[in-house]
Amino acid sequence: MMKDSQGFEREVALADGAETEALGAAIARGLAVGDAVALEGDLGAGKTTLARAILHALGVAEEVPSPTFTLVQQYDTPTLTVRHFDLYRVASEAEIAELGLDDALDEGAALIEWPERAGAHLPADALHVALTITAATARRAKLSGPKKWAAHV
Ligand SMILES: Nc1ncnc2c1ncn2[C@@H]1O[C@H](COP(=O)(O)OP(=O)(O)O)[C@@H](O)[C@H]1O
Ligand SMILES: [Mg+2]
Repeated sequence: MMKDSQGFEREVALADGAETEALGAAIARGLAVGDAVALEGDLGAGKTTLARAILHALGVAEEVPSPTFTLVQQYDTPTLTVRHFDLYRVASEAEIAELGLDDALDEGAALIEWPERAGAHLPADALHVALTITAATARRAKLSGPKKWAAHV
């Protein structure tokens, strides 16, 4: 049986970058304080590209670098503070706490690449977006999470 916090599942074909941009805008519209977006998928699947689309839709005009090396980047958007994490290089759950994932969710929203590494720090009500490569410019996104997302995505 599905948990109460779940109930939303959708599969979206992203034929090109513009469709990924549109998915990002849709997610941005639903994003609120305490929300985690778990961006799953292999290298090159489009996790950072989708995070960029979400941030652009929230009004971030500056460049959005991949947090591969910094591990976390913070954006104070007009409506919401958003922290963008890349946990690929994170070795332990203790490091996740040091990176401030819990604080990020108290203060705003979190976009998390390689969320598998977050262990117990990943909230149960995260919106999961699993990206797979279907062609050079095409991706498939499998979304799942709390019911509220059905109104946005
Ligand atoms: N429809 C699409 N959606 C997202 N990325 C796409 C798409 N088509 C091509 N790409 C390209 O795929 C690459 C995805 O890279 P990136 O977002 O850094 O992946 P990840 O963060 O998952 O490693 C980028 O070069 C992007 O331009
Ligand atoms: Mg990335």
